[in-house]
Amino acid sequence: MILGTVTITLITGANKGLGREAARQLLEVGHTVLVGARNAERGRRAAGELGAVFLEIDPTSDASVAAAAGRVRSEYGRLDVLVNNAGTAEPRVGAADLTAGEAMQGFGITCSARSGSRMRSCRSCAPRIIPGS
Ligand SMILES: NC(=O)c1ccc[n+]([C@@H]2O[C@H](COP(=O)([O-])OP(=O)(O)OC[C@H]3O[C@@H](n4cnc5c(N)ncnc54)[C@H](OP(=O)(O)O)[C@@H]3O)[C@@H](O)[C@H]2O)c1
Repeated sequence: MILGTVTITLITGANKGLGREAARQLLEVGHTVLVGARNAERGRRAAGELGAVFLEIDPTSDASVAAAAGRVRSEYGRLDVLVNNAGTAEPRVGAADLTAGEAMQGFGITCSARSGSRMRSCRSCAPRIIPGS
């Protein structure tokens, strides 16, 4: 595969929602997009429909992130853009109906998926994004 000036972009949680739409739009402008998903079946389906590459990655798992970073390293040698998207916007209710408990539950899931993943994914991917880091 000749990658030349192609931008290689990994989006976590890209099997649906905002991540999937970001993948669609970046593919349109010529990026090589790795559709990251924790569930292989959902991820493969989305990547297939988009014409992208599926990458299994669960940002809440050190082992999964390490395996995904290893695959990026061996297959592409670098990563240009990491979009740490995995997480949730649940519950999807208006402010008037949202209880404090529900808000904290959604916040907790997103923190565990995104804040934890930011550290894991950035630590794993930084050496490929910034040579020598
Ligand atoms: N939509 C909004 O209005 C809004 C507003 C502010 C911020 N955001 C943020 O934007 C991101 C995407 O939101 P969205 O509405 O597109 O969400 P979505 O449609 O629910 O998609 C979420 C994606 O993240 C994955 N995911 C969810 N919880 C996870 C967890 N605990 N561990 C690993 N992966 C997890 C999902 O995987 P599965 O399919 O396997 O569940 C899916 O791929 C989230 O981080 C959210 O906090 C969204």
